[in-house]
Amino acid sequence: VGDTLALTPPMGWNSWNCWGLSVSAEKVKSSADAMIQKGLADYGWNYINVDDGWQATGRAGDGEIKANEKFPDMGGLGDYLHQQGLKFGIYSSPGTKTCGGFLGSLGHEGQDAVTYNQWGVDYLKYDLCSYTDVIGNDTSLSVQQKPYMLMRNYLEKQPRDIIYSICQYGIHDVWKWGSSMNGNLWRTTEDITDTWESLYSIGFAQSNFYPYAHPGGWNDPDMLIVGKVGWGENLHASRLTPYEQYTHISLWCLLSAPLLIGCDMSNLDEFTLNLLKNNEVIAVDQDAAGKQAQKMIDKYNFQVWVKQMADGSHVIGIFNLGSSYAGYTLKLTDLGINETASIRDLWAQKNIGNHLRQLIFQIPPHGVRLIKVFAN
Ligand code: GLA
Repeated sequence: VGDTLALTPPMGWNSWNCWGLSVSAEKVKSSADAMIQKGLADYGWNYINVDDGWQATGRAGDGEIKANEKFPDMGGLGDYLHQQGLKFGIYSSPGTKTCGGFLGSLGHEGQDAVTYNQWGVDYLKYDLCSYTDVIGNDTSLSVQQKPYMLMRNYLEKQPRDIIYSICQYGIHDVWKWGSSMNGNLWRTTEDITDTWESLYSIGFAQSNFYPYAHPGGWNDPDMLIVGKVGWGENLHASRLTPYEQYTHISLWCLLSAPLLIGCDMSNLDEFTLNLLKNNEVIAVDQDAAGKQAQKMIDKYNFQVWVKQMADGSHVIGIFNLGSSYAGYTLKLTDLGINETASIRDLWAQKNIGNHLRQLIFQIPPHGVRLIKVFAN
């Protein structure tokens, strides 16, 4: 699994950040339809992932997991997505209960893997939640790994390719062993929310994980908080400013992070749509080399992150973490880039110079310039 699936970070949508536990098949379908109708699928967005809240309160007599009345036909939902060229993701927990209090997979792991296969599932997010009750006071690594290994073995027995998303918030440095569980992605953090503080404390703390990202296995700093979000109540436009949203997408692409849109897709505004449809920016995330960017400069209110691309170019994000406009002079030689042929602004999709050694940018508050430097 690990080395043949998710050779670039998964891209798609997940129900949690907008619908929370009030998710339904209708809401999922409306997001899937929007993915196609608004042209996002053409940019590589293709997973439609149902998060927590789809399960019935009890299993069938033979132990089979059932969906609740808001999901009358899981196999049909899978077919509906596949017919449109989309992929179907689902969510469970290795404990008795999920984080939202719904049924988990404990004691039924093999049976659930078979059921998911029958429904046409392409992606499983497996969230620790109440498994902490099973672990008790035992904080050893092997105890943390056990449920993830168990489910992995059952998933691998299925005839479908199922992406395996390990969600346990970074406990025991999961970035060091997520890949050995054949995880295709592993959450490095607690849950994100749509504030600058949350975005900043999660996104800019990812630098040390860069050696662990590779094709087939990705660090997951959690989902995108753009568009209308609300976790099932009070849907509201993301409280991130537009500049902060450029920072969010730029940083996630530099990090080779999975890109999972978390908003109400049937209600996308033009700004958000444009944010998600810049092919040159998405190409940074989806680069075949699968290298995560490293933080190279951290000075005053600025951070400079650099990602090495498969074609030998460098993508550079210059972030202004301060709360007012500020000028920054970037010397490419400080980043070890000595020969430059051309420099391109990726959000603007414009070349901004040739053979420049030094660049001066005015960067908005909490904003970014994302450039690509082609060296000869
Ligand atoms: C945890 C996860 C979230 C979401 C919820 C669902 O908080 O980190 O991403 O899946 O559970 O209950």
